Amino acid sequence: MGYRDIYQSWQDDPEAFWMNAARAIDWDRAPTKALFDDRAPLYEWFRDARVNTCYNAVDRHVEAGHGDRVAIIHDSPITGTKAKITYAELQSRVAALAGGLKAKGITKGDRVLIYMPMVPEALVAMLACARLGAIHSVVFGGFAANELAVRIDDATPKAIIAASCGIEPGRVVPYMPLLDGALEMARHKPEVCVILQREQERAELTERRDVDWHELQEGATPADCVPVEGTHPAYILYTSGTTGAPKGVVRPTAGHLVALNWTMKNIYNVDPGDVFWAASDVGWVVGHSYICYAPLIHGNTTVVFEGKPVGTPDAGTFWRVIEEHGVRSFFTAPTAFRAVKREDPDGDLIKEYDLSCLEQIYLAGERADPDTIEWMQDKLGKPVYDHWWQTETGFTIVGNPAGIEALPVKVGSPTVAMPGYDVRILDEGGQPLPAGELGAIAVKLPLPPGTLPTLWNAEERFRKSYLETFPGYYETGDAGLIDEDGYLYVMARTDDVINVAGHRLSTGGMEEILASHRDVAECAVIGVKDAVKGQVPMGFVCLNKGSDTPEAQVVEECIALVRARLGPVAAFKLCAVVDRLPKTRSGKILRATMAKIADGEEFKLPATIDDPAILDEIAAAVKPLGYATT
Ligand code: COA
Ligand code: AMP
Repeated sequence: MGYRDIYQSWQDDPEAFWMNAARAIDWDRAPTKALFDDRAPLYEWFRDARVNTCYNAVDRHVEAGHGDRVAIIHDSPITGTKAKITYAELQSRVAALAGGLKAKGITKGDRVLIYMPMVPEALVAMLACARLGAIHSVVFGGFAANELAVRIDDATPKAIIAASCGIEPGRVVPYMPLLDGALEMARHKPEVCVILQREQERAELTERRDVDWHELQEGATPADCVPVEGTHPAYILYTSGTTGAPKGVVRPTAGHLVALNWTMKNIYNVDPGDVFWAASDVGWVVGHSYICYAPLIHGNTTVVFEGKPVGTPDAGTFWRVIEEHGVRSFFTAPTAFRAVKREDPDGDLIKEYDLSCLEQIYLAGERADPDTIEWMQDKLGKPVYDHWWQTETGFTIVGNPAGIEALPVKVGSPTVAMPGYDVRILDEGGQPLPAGELGAIAVKLPLPPGTLPTLWNAEERFRKSYLETFPGYYETGDAGLIDEDGYLYVMARTDDVINVAGHRLSTGGMEEILASHRDVAECAVIGVKDAVKGQVPMGFVCLNKGSDTPEAQVVEECIALVRARLGPVAAFKLCAVVDRLPKTRSGKILRATMAKIADGEEFKLPATIDDPAILDEIAAAVKPLGYATT
């Protein structure tokens, strides 16, 4: 069957489609039914099933005789180390850590916060939680202590699992000061912190609070897998919304297993035993779904890469890893390829490696610009598939189902809707628009299994953020169009979220930080174009009347403040002091117009603008930052 037939079979009978996909999972109690709609517009999948994620990702492969198969390859050019872990070894490590956590009182439903760099232990920690039915929440290492504290207070974890440090090019990032800082700020106090000591920077443990990872594992009785209800949260992953308060996306256990397993062959075109590599970070949804869970559930070998696309040691790193480990499908963000292209525009380093094992490449996380895709197609001679999804969905909404049928690529489009998703373009009133017209991208409810059923402790926010604007639909926050062939084009966000090097950030959150500076009366943050990162944030601050702090000092302090509060990952380095911000007569800041000015794009003067002269002031302010130059 081709894509159209499969999509049609899902549309004709979604219940049968998902029950069929569910057969690939090993259940403790098999579901009798897929969809439960008694609380619509809130939906649940496989509610009456009982299952364990870790069993499906680890133990069942060992029991099936694949214990010697490599589960995880750790390739760390930044530390100069490599390691392989078989499924059997993974099982004993995970069971031991789970046993240690259990001995510390961690049981089903407890939250565990994980703060780890790209080491295999990050996956071991996630799987150990899943083994016990504990709910993990992984926090990306590039966030500051304050962001960690916000997540600690929202998830109220009983335990924290952290490494002593992460490693960035040219510097070691000690995690302990961040953790200590966060715990000082947070109202909630976890009972125990499990610390993985790395030789690059050992942490000083706090007696009564901290335990050493290896000591915990060594003394432990291995723990068994605890079956949980199908709707039990597998994890919480915080992502940016319109305000500084991150949204805790909840991932339901059974739907997650069924959907992710389905994607490995149908979208990523790999068979069990093949090597699959997602070059992202465990702190992001790509890392959750495609570094940890999906490849392991499907019985693949996953690559945990601790390095950067360039500089560790050069722009040939990706090709070296692909050749050395025999990667069949490779997935990363377009920004990584832009970085590689800038360093190696003629693709000379590509020619040094034998990439015959590689069948296809996948891009997601931000808009894939045609220049980059065409460069990759030209230099690699492999299919390059863009696909569109979100933290909220956990897997592809729109993609190219290469394992079913590779559809023709239209550069600039992530291709077509996957089974489970009825994607529509809506006008402001929620009416479907015809092909080719630009509008809000929405998905008809219910969303498929594995997608978020709610936000952690915030059902009202969930309804408000996603369900209320277009009743009967899930609001994606993206705008775009669908062409006559059903191909989607994602053009922009409809909210204040920006995408910096594939990382989703809230400009509203950055504005809250800038506004806390003593000299700042008013501010705005916009996303401006960046050749490598796609977008970077740019701040505009208006100073309090009578402020006598030199402008350059305010700018420097604002940049430092965002780095300290949000973290280096925000890449907030552009900031200007202005007298006024352009606004509508009703007082709304014209951020979209400001972004067009900074990017040197044509724009229409908003009819409701209060004082058009301010736009010239904005252009003048961003010129010294290297913007508004065309
Ligand atoms: N811990 C601590 N700091 C971190 C970090 C981590 N895990 N990850 C990033 N940072 C820091 C970086 O060191 C950098 O700090 P600096 O301002 O002192 O230089 C800052 O955060 C920004 O990092 P990054 O976005 O990685 O930018 P970069 O300039 O170092 O590298 C790319 C640019 C394109 C090479 C890089 O962004 C990249 O590899 N992106 C891949 C995107 C990706 O994986 N996206 C996930 C979704 S698929
Ligand atoms: P995240 O939740 O971090 O995965 O970010 C999701 C957002 O990133 C989406 O809502 C889009 O705005 C953007 N995004 C992700 N993938 C793509 C893509 N393939 N094309 C365009 N935008 C994308």
